[in-house]
Amino acid sequence: MVYVTRKCHFSASHRLYNPEWSDSRNDEIFDKCNNVRGHGHNYVLEVTVAGQPDPETGYVIDLKKLRDILEEEIIEKVDHKHLNYDVDFLDGIIPTAENIAVMFWQIIERKLPSGKLHSVKLFESDNNFVEYFGDPVKIKRFTASHEAAELV
Ligand code: NI
Repeated sequence: MVYVTRKCHFSASHRLYNPEWSDSRNDEIFDKCNNVRGHGHNYVLEVTVAGQPDPETGYVIDLKKLRDILEEEIIEKVDHKHLNYDVDFLDGIIPTAENIAVMFWQIIERKLPSGKLHSVKLFESDNNFVEYFGDPVKIKRFTASHEAAELV
């Protein structure tokens, strides 16, 4: 198995808060990340695909294709956006790096032409990053009426 990684960047704003909680509870848990008008990050996304190199091309996946998938399916949708309001697939989801990475996985996995998605690594800063390997997780999606639905 060979692991191939494409790295890309985007800048976005977000606010971390749970709409079912009081303001004081949100402040207690999310502190500055609960700033009402949001705050921004320069995110770095690293996506790793695993597979056997094709005998004819030597590629696990053509990195130009992976680049295009990430550009079209992810970067164009999140770059210079507010993750709480502007991104369909994050609608109602608390946009922590954890939750964003899982939602990215679901999108990227469906689009891969070859190889197997191995990891989605999302840096929120130089020091803070999350890594997701596709194990089933449940993410809560809040609706406008604050009734919550579960996702896988
Ligand atoms: Ni933040």
